[in-house]
Amino acid sequence: MQHNQDGKRELFNTRAGFILAAVGSAVGLGNMWRFPYVAAEGGGAAFVFLYIILTLAIGIPLMLSEFSVGRGAGLSPIGALRKLGGGGWSLLGFMYVITGFIILAYYSVIAGWVVRYAIDGILSGFPANPGEQFGIVTTGMSPIWYHLAIMGTTILIVSMGVQKGIERAALVLMPVLFSILILLAIWAFTLDGAMEGYAVYLKPDLSELLDPYILSQAAGQAFYSLSLGMGCMLTFSSYLSKDSNLGGEATTIAFSDFGVAFTAGLVVFPVIYALGIQGDVSESTVGALFIALPGAFVAMGDIGRIVGVLFFVALIVGAVTSAVSLLEVVAASVIDEFKLPRKPASIAAGVLIALLGLLPASSIDLLGVIDKLAEAMLALGAFFMAIFVGWVAVGAADEMRQGASERSKRMVPLVMTAVRFILPPVILFATTYAFIAVVREYQGAFGG
Ligand code: TRP
Repeated sequence: MQHNQDGKRELFNTRAGFILAAVGSAVGLGNMWRFPYVAAEGGGAAFVFLYIILTLAIGIPLMLSEFSVGRGAGLSPIGALRKLGGGGWSLLGFMYVITGFIILAYYSVIAGWVVRYAIDGILSGFPANPGEQFGIVTTGMSPIWYHLAIMGTTILIVSMGVQKGIERAALVLMPVLFSILILLAIWAFTLDGAMEGYAVYLKPDLSELLDPYILSQAAGQAFYSLSLGMGCMLTFSSYLSKDSNLGGEATTIAFSDFGVAFTAGLVVFPVIYALGIQGDVSESTVGALFIALPGAFVAMGDIGRIVGVLFFVALIVGAVTSAVSLLEVVAASVIDEFKLPRKPASIAAGVLIALLGLLPASSIDLLGVIDKLAEAMLALGAFFMAIFVGWVAVGAADEMRQGASERSKRMVPLVMTAVRFILPPVILFATTYAFIAVVREYQGAFGG
């Protein structure tokens, strides 16, 4: 097990530190890049409504499930599942570590593109031809160097430990992100195209909701955005003391995550519609962030340059704090399983992930396939977590009550009912769709 000087597991120092670290994990590229796009495609306000329901009915119970296992066992996923469920369940822990490995390998590549955009924005402004620039940023050696820089930063933070690295980074960085985003949303409101942009983002289209594909998209987006399904929240909660109110923390984290995603849409859509470049957006999610937005920023002149740099800086913050949480799952597992000290464990794990990332850094088609694969593995991981907490682990409900407020305690039976009966079928359904999406993406990218 991982020990500090007194021979105890290192814990988060403050409640705010834990919450911001968990929100830092949750808030990332998924919020600012994927959510606005998926929402607009999936029925606007109707999608947002569905998403809130899923967050309440599935996201929060699942997060609470991960918390009960992580804090209950005081170990990272492999050890925690073994301790509470026996040897066979440790395999699920291994799957989580592998999923974390895979996600970070390509997540870091995208984060690297973001850094390049921010630096280019500062040094020379946004490109006049954003489509061409996107090709330059994503091919050749450039994506590799920036990916390695992100991995280096991530390794540095994780190797410094829970309090000095992860918690401190979150306490400094997350308020920066919130401030930038709120500033940008207010500015976006003043744009000429704002109302039109909001209308496209939020136009309620109820017919989309009946489409099972949209339901599976919303569920997949929720797992991804809340960092669920691979033991990430589980690992963070293993650094919590027994008097923390798990239900309250889960609710705060889930709504903060939603708030950031929603606000990002309030920035992105007015910007795009102020310039009438919506055509570029519908092509792909990648296109929305890396082609349409820079195109809008360049068309806005000096103010666009400032706003654009701020937006990309906020994205870097979100991406780095998420990358930290992904590496922490892998590093903590190495620490707990092999009894290695934190520094060598995080360096070894990080270097291996950086090497794996060279593949998606070299092929954007491969990156797309890995992205879909990751989403499917998260859904599968979430399914087994629900089964584990609902039907296998004894004492999960007691762990949820431990340290909880009276109100949270009263919610526990409801949460457990959701974990047992609602989560498994809904998540299984989403998992099936997610694996179909992997095959489609693969055929789209590589034929056959
Ligand atoms: N939630 C992050 C985002 O929205 C990505 C992320 C970080 C993640 N850690 C995770 C996703 C763990 C799934 C599992 O960008």
